[in-house]
Amino acid sequence: MTPAIDIRGAWRIYETAAGYTTALRGVSLTVARGEFLAIMGPSGSGKSTLMNILGCLDRPTAGTYLLEGIDVTELSEDDLAHVRASRLGFVFQSFNLLPRATVLRNVMLPLVYSDLPPRERELAAWRALRSVGLPEEHYLHRSNELSGGQMQRVAIARALVNDPAIIFADEPTGNLDTATGEMVMRTFRRMQRRGKTIVLITHDAEVAAWADRTVHIRDGKLFSDEEERRYLAGLAARETAAAAEKDDAHAGANETTPLSPAAPGPSARRVLLLGVPAL
Ligand SMILES: Nc1ncnc2c1ncn2[C@@H]1O[C@H](COP(=O)(O)OP(=O)(O)OP(=O)(O)O)[C@@H](O)[C@H]1O
Ligand SMILES: [Mg+2]
Repeated sequence: MTPAIDIRGAWRIYETAAGYTTALRGVSLTVARGEFLAIMGPSGSGKSTLMNILGCLDRPTAGTYLLEGIDVTELSEDDLAHVRASRLGFVFQSFNLLPRATVLRNVMLPLVYSDLPPRERELAAWRALRSVGLPEEHYLHRSNELSGGQMQRVAIARALVNDPAIIFADEPTGNLDTATGEMVMRTFRRMQRRGKTIVLITHDAEVAAWADRTVHIRDGKLFSDEEERRYLAGLAARETAAAAEKDDAHAGANETTPLSPAAPGPSARRVLLLGVPAL
């Protein structure tokens, strides 16, 4: 079966007034259908840039990208919009809900371009909200009347309402406490069990642990879990060696400083050794 995602040698170079910024440097990644992948990396490493490209919100400067076997780098803006609306769902850290619209209306939003009659749209929104476990009593509340965890579940329902194949989530638990974050992660696992492919960005190892596989991004380059572990072990070894060297240098400095009371100079030491005053 063709993979959900197959991107090869992707570069993204931003052109700004201040010059060029290279955010991705030859990224290659394959995600199987139904896989739950976590992408981890520090701030500024290129996570959102990569997600925007994978989610067809942006195009790579160079490289190839097959989404469910379709070369999306060749598609027009309109066709890309159609791919996004029919195949992809998005969840963001800041929920991005319309605060004064009801929960139900927020979830119906992605269906605005569909041919479904209003009653069918409402039913689809209802089903999506039920699938993320939000109690029905909240469906007619304004979204700004909910807790953070409830808001994020509404945002996941909105991402699911058009029955996408792939869900992209950029730091979906970043604004949630640990217990609420866990509840949201359980919701993603449930979606995966229903056959969705999930690509989740996080800088939190505990969140990444919910995924089947984690890849790491540093300075716009992608690394496997194994490569990252080796890199971190090497870094730790270098730091330990540097610290030990510093300690040695410090001790050595004490020993040879003539003015240090703890480190007597050579002549004073001879006095001690020979037991007679030096001449
Ligand atoms: N629209 C843009 N124009 C110019 N440079 C950008 C743009 N978006 C991102 N960058 C730069 O690209 C690099 C990667 O940014 P990106 O937003 O992908 O990082 P990130 O890993 O998502 O960081 P964070 O964890 O803080 O969200 C950074 O150096 C950033 O300044
Ligand atoms: Mg980001």
